[in-house]
Amino acid sequence: MTDVDRLAAAARRAAERAYAPYSRFRVGAVVVAEDGSEFSGANVENSAYGSSICAEATAIATAASAGVRRMPTIAVACIDATDPGFPCGNCRQLMREFGVERVVVDGPDGPGVHRFDEDILPNSFGPESLES
Ligand code: THU
Repeated sequence: MTDVDRLAAAARRAAERAYAPYSRFRVGAVVVAEDGSEFSGANVENSAYGSSICAEATAIATAASAGVRRMPTIAVACIDATDPGFPCGNCRQLMREFGVERVVVDGPDGPGVHRFDEDILPNSFGPESLES
């Protein structure tokens, strides 16, 4: 099993712990820090729908709360979808902050690996933008 397959499997396992009674769309994410440590998260919904939190946001906040400041890889799995589920715009912005370089997106034909580049978040706003 490759590293990518293993991460996708970990994201699927994280999705099983989602709290998604409203959408019934369970998502899991795993952040990998530079030292190889991993932090998982799942989407956590709320009866006030707008207060719901995406899986990627949960995983990124968990890693950041543990002191991680660079997150080279994140893996995402939507276990109730047939098509691969790409991260939403807000989660892409969260990834931008912590230097995500590689996004593993699980799907029915196996995980796809995507560079976090201009195609994913064009002309992005980041920490340097505050200093220019
Ligand atoms: N969701 C995520 O967890 N990550 C995304 O990138 C997109 C959407 C969640 C939010 C909500 O709980 C459910 O999927 C349906 O939108």
